[in-house]
Amino acid sequence: MGEKILKIKKEASKQLSEAKDLQMLQETFYKYLGRKAELNIILKELKKLPPEKKPIIGKMVNETKRYLLALYEERASLFKKQKEKGEKIDFSLPANIPPLASKHPLSLITEEIVSSFRRIGFSIEEGKEIDTEFYNFEALNIPLEHPSRDAFDTFYIDEKSIPPDGKYKYLLRSHTSPSQIHVLQNKELPARFIVPGRVYRPDNMDASHSFMFSQIEGFYVDRTVTFAHLKGTLLFFAKDIFGKEVSLRFRPHFFPFTEPSVEVDISCFLCKGEGCSVCKKTGFIEILGAGMIHPRVLQSCGINPEEWKGFAFGMGIDRIAMLKFGINDIRLFYENDLRFLENFL
Ligand code: DAH
Repeated sequence: MGEKILKIKKEASKQLSEAKDLQMLQETFYKYLGRKAELNIILKELKKLPPEKKPIIGKMVNETKRYLLALYEERASLFKKQKEKGEKIDFSLPANIPPLASKHPLSLITEEIVSSFRRIGFSIEEGKEIDTEFYNFEALNIPLEHPSRDAFDTFYIDEKSIPPDGKYKYLLRSHTSPSQIHVLQNKELPARFIVPGRVYRPDNMDASHSFMFSQIEGFYVDRTVTFAHLKGTLLFFAKDIFGKEVSLRFRPHFFPFTEPSVEVDISCFLCKGEGCSVCKKTGFIEILGAGMIHPRVLQSCGINPEEWKGFAFGMGIDRIAMLKFGINDIRLFYENDLRFLENFL
């Protein structure tokens, strides 16, 4: 083994000294000192040697590596100096290409969902991340002191900064539903919009909770909109995103801003409804809340509920991204760890 190491040392030193340019030098470097180089393989397999040999061989390999590294560095700096002086530039050397950036998984899913709804006539709007109690609650039929406010636990902004209307505090929106009011106050009817964006709730961080997450709000107001339109729209979306074979299940629910309200589940697209760990053996996965827009919500946008009807829905983008990409910890979306993000190139 000792002889083998000496032989490698001799061969590598010769080749490093004879390298004609930086590229050749680097290639030689990887050949003898790269991860898969023989010296490193010997190190990895050290444990297979008899105990008395381990320290001797280990020391020899490390000394050889140090020696070759010093030789490499010396030669590399020589080439670099030559290049700086403009003595010789080798245009055939490969360019130093910076790594390509990739889209964030939440952006990928948002784009996919947005393009799905675009195809059936929805336009995109932006809401406001900093909003007021009026839009986040009051206009959505969630009166002050009403217990349903608890479901949308909220970050309030400094008491001293009271918005111009004087009455309602500023806050970080706790859902994207207030964008219904902003849009419907300003657009002509009929209106068919989706609004993606970030929302905030004072939740403790764990694998399925984050104080900041993303939602998509959707709504359609027209003279003859019915619950059947809501069902058809959501079924189109679900099949487009999760696959043609999925079906939907509507469960009665309560939201202050819709009447009737439902929670909507998709049949589990992984086990096809047979029961697995993702659907917790139920065959269904909850994906969104929806309903027919409450007449009071339409009124707070200055719309006559006798003349106009609408449906609305809201979904968590993080949850859908986790389901689609098989990710089991929401925190990964917000840590910006390149090792995670590189999976979405
Ligand atoms: N805003 C609700 C939430 O954050 C989701 C939601 C439910 C939105 C029903 C809607 C709706 O537009 O109709 O939990």
